[in-house]
Amino acid sequence: MRLVGERVARPERYVEVKKMEFEDSSLYHYAIFSDSVIAVSVVVNSAAKNAEEPWKHVFHVVTDRMNLAAMQVWFTMRPPYGGAHVEIRALDAFEFLNPFSNDKNRNSKYLSMLDHLRFYLPEMYPKLNKMVLLDDDVVVQKDLTGLWRIELDGKVNGAVEICFGSFHRLGHYLNFSHPLIKERFNTKACAWAYGVNVFDLDAWRRDKCTDHYHYWHNMNENENKTLWKLGTLPPGLITFYSTTKPLDKSWHVLGLGYNPSISMDEINSGAVIHYNGNMKPWLDIALNQFRPFWTKYVDYEMEFVQMCNFGL
Ligand SMILES: *[C@@H]1O[C@H](CO)[C@@H](O)[C@H](O)[C@H]1NC(C)=O
Ligand SMILES: *[C@@H]1O[C@H](CO)[C@@H](O)[C@H](O)[C@H]1NC(C)=O
Repeated sequence: MRLVGERVARPERYVEVKKMEFEDSSLYHYAIFSDSVIAVSVVVNSAAKNAEEPWKHVFHVVTDRMNLAAMQVWFTMRPPYGGAHVEIRALDAFEFLNPFSNDKNRNSKYLSMLDHLRFYLPEMYPKLNKMVLLDDDVVVQKDLTGLWRIELDGKVNGAVEICFGSFHRLGHYLNFSHPLIKERFNTKACAWAYGVNVFDLDAWRRDKCTDHYHYWHNMNENENKTLWKLGTLPPGLITFYSTTKPLDKSWHVLGLGYNPSISMDEINSGAVIHYNGNMKPWLDIALNQFRPFWTKYVDYEMEFVQMCNFGL
């Protein structure tokens, strides 16, 4: 609320400017979809601070209408480190999404739309060829430009795989008792994770992945949600089935929001660490031993943050 008050007091400072960098495909582009100012600020701050050439990195943030003003004020008062660029837009700015957000269930639909934006990257950023999608509960610990040099071999999605033994295979996420799933997918195929994904947007357009997503989304609705239940991972596993290239695991270390036994070595050598799970680093229930990797990037000079006082 304090952040919004600042914008109301000085509206002239918060006119949206479209910078050339936002569409310059020679730069490194990231998508972050979130309704949390503090979470986004940590992602951007950590990525910029650990970049060798921060001014070449562009962060495309999309938030809901409620949080737009707060995000704009935050990044105007505390511009990203080293000349990195931030574009902040509201969900409403993407008109082609309106048919999906006009339901009677407006509020919950609207929120889940923020999650579903990840299936529209090429439509949202028509000028870009490649993007890295970062979840808002990650911390970047290394320069990420290497992600852009990875050869995806014509695949659409570069992601870290999460299966081991019989765990985290497609059978865990999709309903293989359903004939539509059974006849199209392999129950033993390895699942991958969202959090750090390299998307080749040209390959995505070529393979019409957005259409695949719509097809399966509608199918699941028609089948009374029996193909999969909740979340974005199951439809992601379907949409990018056989078009995902596994990345080296050090790019994306998972589980800091639920698994106390991740080794410090693994965390320290991770390019990105991910607090997936319920124990988010900004909550009281966070795993204490993992919290400092996140708080390190919280901007305590902002009086607004000091008032929030993250269990420190
Ligand atoms: C869909 O699921 C709901 C709740 O699980 C159930 O009440 C309803 O009968 C189902 N409809 C069809 C067409 O199967
Ligand atoms: C999986 O699909 C089968 C066949 O349509 C259905 O009977 C079953 O209820 C589904 N399971 C879940 C958990 O939706």
